[in-house]
Amino acid sequence: MEKERIDKVLAHHGFGSRSDVKKMMRKDHLTVNGKIVRDPGFLIDIGSDVVFVDDEEIKLQRDLYIMMNKCRDVVCANKDGEHKTVFDLLDDSLRHKFLGGDLHCMGRLDIDTEGLLILSTDGQLTHRLLAPKTHVPKTYAVGLRDSLDESQKTDYVEKFKKGFWIDREQNESGFDCQPSELEFLEDGKSRDGRIDSAFVQNSSGKVDCLLTIYEGKFHQVKRMFAQVGNEVVYLKRVKMGSLCLDSSLPLGGYRELSEDEVEILKN
Ligand code: URA
Repeated sequence: MEKERIDKVLAHHGFGSRSDVKKMMRKDHLTVNGKIVRDPGFLIDIGSDVVFVDDEEIKLQRDLYIMMNKCRDVVCANKDGEHKTVFDLLDDSLRHKFLGGDLHCMGRLDIDTEGLLILSTDGQLTHRLLAPKTHVPKTYAVGLRDSLDESQKTDYVEKFKKGFWIDREQNESGFDCQPSELEFLEDGKSRDGRIDSAFVQNSSGKVDCLLTIYEGKFHQVKRMFAQVGNEVVYLKRVKMGSLCLDSSLPLGGYRELSEDEVEILKN
């Protein structure tokens, strides 16, 4: 495993600047594998060395992976003159540099879309998951303006299964959308039980159907329903790849992914 200087590692774990770390080390606050270390240039192995600052063990990690249940009215951008960003929802303890790189959104959700958003420092993984040829499935819970009878629902399902042409929107050109999977809820529930009472409690709109798409064009879900003459009035992402939104997360809430969830995301 590649080694890193201890002052750099701690500066990237929220211990201030490298000179703050140096001062702290001079006062014998830091141990590596049980031994006091005073040399800021000491090299450590992030994967195996055990580092304590006083009595607190520092969980060393190269990359950070956060699952957020994005709420409406915040944007997926680093800065926005007008609106709050998803980064404004994060605690101050996450406002520092990370070893792996800058914290960024793995894909975007529109300002009025809720749900599963991954924030990470792992640029390589983001690049891989967002590459058009990767075709990561993304599942959305959708509320529609117009209610549909059974035969209209069947028409939608068939049309979405085949794929169809989507007209241009603003400066975005039209495109042939690829086959997708559409499932209408029965008695307010989805077949896999993902839409349940906990889900509804932590959402702000009613859901009619679940749609899984394998691409991620601009306003794709809204444009797909607009093309068949309806309108999306509520949109929430509930799954990305095999990773499901934790339905106990309140709107605007977030938590770090477990190691198992990071593996799910990577595979
Ligand atoms: N499709 C949309 O139209 N909006 C989103 O935020 C995500 C997918």
